[in-house]
Amino acid sequence: MVPFLRPRPPSLRDLGDELGSIERSGIFTNYGPVNTRFETALQDGLFADGGACVTVCNATIGLMMAIRAVVERADAGRALQPDRSTRRYALMPSFTFAAAAMAADWAGLTPLFCDIDEHDWASSAEAEDAMIGRHGENIAVIVPYATFGNCIDLDRYERLSARTGIPVVIDAAASLGSLDGFGRAFAAGCTLPVVFSMHATKTFSTGEGGVIHSTDLELIRTLRIMGNFGFGIPRSATIPGLNSKLSEVGALLALSRLRDFEAVVAHRDNLARLYRALLPDLVFQEIRGTRCAYQFMPVLLPARFDGRRDEVIAELLARGVGAAAYFAPHVAEQPFFLARGVAGDLSVTERISRRVLSLPLWDEMTDGIVATVCDALLAVCRRDRPAEEPVAARLPPPGGVAGWSGQVPAS
Ligand SMILES: Cc1ncc(COP(=O)(O)O)c(C=O)c1O
Repeated sequence: MVPFLRPRPPSLRDLGDELGSIERSGIFTNYGPVNTRFETALQDGLFADGGACVTVCNATIGLMMAIRAVVERADAGRALQPDRSTRRYALMPSFTFAAAAMAADWAGLTPLFCDIDEHDWASSAEAEDAMIGRHGENIAVIVPYATFGNCIDLDRYERLSARTGIPVVIDAAASLGSLDGFGRAFAAGCTLPVVFSMHATKTFSTGEGGVIHSTDLELIRTLRIMGNFGFGIPRSATIPGLNSKLSEVGALLALSRLRDFEAVVAHRDNLARLYRALLPDLVFQEIRGTRCAYQFMPVLLPARFDGRRDEVIAELLARGVGAAAYFAPHVAEQPFFLARGVAGDLSVTERISRRVLSLPLWDEMTDGIVATVCDALLAVCRRDRPAEEPVAARLPPPGGVAGWSGQVPAS
């Protein structure tokens, strides 16, 4: 059986000494020394841009706080205060996970769903512009998603925010480890708050956790205070707050994840390139940066499978391959958001959501396992077509695919 996901957080057994040190220190949370070491190591090692990072207990809470912080700040700077008797919008794609829409709802906003680009599956600039044109002043925040770990154009969002005065929070849940077009860590140099997840199923796998990065040091300071009950002065709330702190044990897992992270992302990137090479007739997401920290491998089924994806997943399972359907249903069609969200034209979202298939991609996967998955998928897709040579027999020679490791298939 090839599982869809196989989370591999750092080995707890190997952390015995460091766990003992936490116990002896008597400091278990409250932005303790291990948390500080992790934030510094991430900031200096990955982003190195004069910005800062603050950890959170998960990315959903991180999104909730970041949305609240930027909206409050933008409102405070307005000459005319917004009418608080009406709910305002958080503009976001519907082709995403429910977390950003939930975070907006908890921040008192209504998700306003826009369509995605048909190539990179992130919010389309045209769809966003159309929504801003239509709803203007009523949009309190824009929350784009760096879809499936891909990079998105952060400079465009900085310009959009400067032009419209609408703050932006980036949902980059799966993008820790992705590299932008200049080969820098995604989010490096960006003033906008970029929220990453460290959930067990992410490439930066820990358990539960997240981190927010920005070069806006004042904003990171505010988020740190917000995450500690809004205590701007000792035991006294000065701003809205909640408890978003990562425990010292969680921070230790994150710190130890950093040690082998580069190799983890590089291996996943190689596997993704092999998928693309072995499935040349299928459509994949267009990658915007120089490296994507794939959480799994998304692909579009051929058009004739529109509406039949569940059949494909069941047949793959019968052949020993786990697969999933992210994101189907997309957020706007989920019952809570049918009632609580507002959607524009979502025709690309709907087309992609009906055909998208998520294939296995995990740290211990080999090239041979990728070939096994591809063979199973092609066999399912070719039921009504003549049989062809299995892809396992067509694995390219070492060096034949850019970035492919040339590992011998597992027998
Ligand atoms: C796009 C997206 N945003 C946010 C989240 C929330 O992350 P967390 O589980 O750390 O709260 C997820 C989780 O899978 C996600 O996929």
